[in-house]
Amino acid sequence: MPAVVIANTGDVPEFEGKITFNVILCVVIAACGGLMFGYDIGVSGGVTAMDDFLKKFFYEVWERKQHAHENNYCKYDNQKLQLFTSSLYVAALIASFIASKTCSKYGRKPTMQLASIFFIIGVALTTFAVNIEMLIFGRLHLGLGVGFANQAVPLFLSELAPAKIRGALNISFQLFITIGILIANVVNYAVGKIHPYGFRISLGIAGVPALMLCLGSLAIHETPTSLIERKKVEEGRAVLKKIRGVDNVDREYDSIVHACEVASQITQPYHKLMKRESRPPLVIAIVMQVFQQFTGINAIMFYAPVLFQTVGFGSDAALLSSVITGLVNVLSTFVSVVLVDRVGRRALLLEACVQMFITQCIIGGILMKDLKITGNLPSGDALVVVIMVCVFVAGFAWSWGPLGWLIPSETFPLETRTAGFSFAVSSNMLCTFVIAQAFLSMLCHLRSGIFFFFAAWIVVMGLFALFLLPETKGVPVDEMVDRVWKQHWFWKRFFNDEQAVEKRETEMIRPHLI
Ligand code: BGC
Repeated sequence: MPAVVIANTGDVPEFEGKITFNVILCVVIAACGGLMFGYDIGVSGGVTAMDDFLKKFFYEVWERKQHAHENNYCKYDNQKLQLFTSSLYVAALIASFIASKTCSKYGRKPTMQLASIFFIIGVALTTFAVNIEMLIFGRLHLGLGVGFANQAVPLFLSELAPAKIRGALNISFQLFITIGILIANVVNYAVGKIHPYGFRISLGIAGVPALMLCLGSLAIHETPTSLIERKKVEEGRAVLKKIRGVDNVDREYDSIVHACEVASQITQPYHKLMKRESRPPLVIAIVMQVFQQFTGINAIMFYAPVLFQTVGFGSDAALLSSVITGLVNVLSTFVSVVLVDRVGRRALLLEACVQMFITQCIIGGILMKDLKITGNLPSGDALVVVIMVCVFVAGFAWSWGPLGWLIPSETFPLETRTAGFSFAVSSNMLCTFVIAQAFLSMLCHLRSGIFFFFAAWIVVMGLFALFLLPETKGVPVDEMVDRVWKQHWFWKRFFNDEQAVEKRETEMIRPHLI
């Protein structure tokens, strides 16, 4: 029997529900996870540029910096410093797999609480670090916090949001990431002149969002899906009523119960994830994250001050420029909040590819033409570079930034959702690690070519989005399989009926048996 197919007319039936105070409260508190992540992205670039920090933990780097002969592209190429930034992401990578288990077994809420505790320990260790070992140990704890939070928060938001505004609510996670980055940029700028412990203030302030998440998560509800999945059926229904603000939640409740029943038959989600029918959301989840990172965004987020100094700004102007790009990042994310559930995911992603491709090429072109090994860019050129970086960041901020998290959180069926999403989080962390570790060295060796390298990736991701990415706007999260994957021209071939699959598997095994 072919699987039941629900016609995809674009006329999406809605579950009943209002945007209640509960929904808003949950979103604000959960998005503190985004602040934790964002602050950390922004803070590392700033402190590694502070002399007090370098003198304390990386003395030889500071010394070399004083005597380094000028080479525009290689001034900051240093593996150890890059490791300080990147080490966090290795811990986050590992944590995301563990977090997938805690998410399913104990719920999204305790996983967020665990995240904030790891983060608070990490903040304490880095803020009061007396040597490099303590500093790195702290970074690893921060990484565990980031891994747990990035696993739990987007899932929490997707499951809690009413379908018609799920995109917008989910993007509040990204919004808080960008606000976290901006706050870190401003703090770095402000404390850079406080000697000798300004960097400790920067590192310590990271504890604020972690504390907010820790306390706030005591007050919020677990998601109905997670409760029902863990057999707390009546509590799940009660929470659903509360967060939807209506008495009649039968249809949504039934849909969740159905999804949970299917999920409960799967005792080994990772095993199920390797099955043929799990491939479409798995491939999309991983690829969205790889592409997100290979837009080159973190080359800018981690190293903007360094990049702006490379093109000839003084250190103050460079720090200020990174505050400006941080602001553009925050404001442009609002565009996504407004448009994602109206124009859909694909339109935003495709438009941004064009925008990001053009800006990367212009930046690369200017540097190739005018930035030699020594000497500065003419000031007009440097200004164009800053403007292009802003246009690039804007494009990213309303597309691949938020949607890199949103799409993987909404496309897995429940039975593989947490396991599948952990692949998304860990792919993000792995690629972030690679970019953090390699960008300054790549800039040194490829020079302006680095921007063409990212431009080439943007072409690839644009083609992928055009041909292989289905639209998920407005589809309830527990109905993705029938209404999205089984309707898509390419991915539907992964959902042949069971008999056909079994037959194919038997045919593949038979030759080995004979
Ligand atoms: C990405 C981060 C990036 C940030 C920039 C996030 O979605 O995962 O790596 O630094 O966006 O706003």
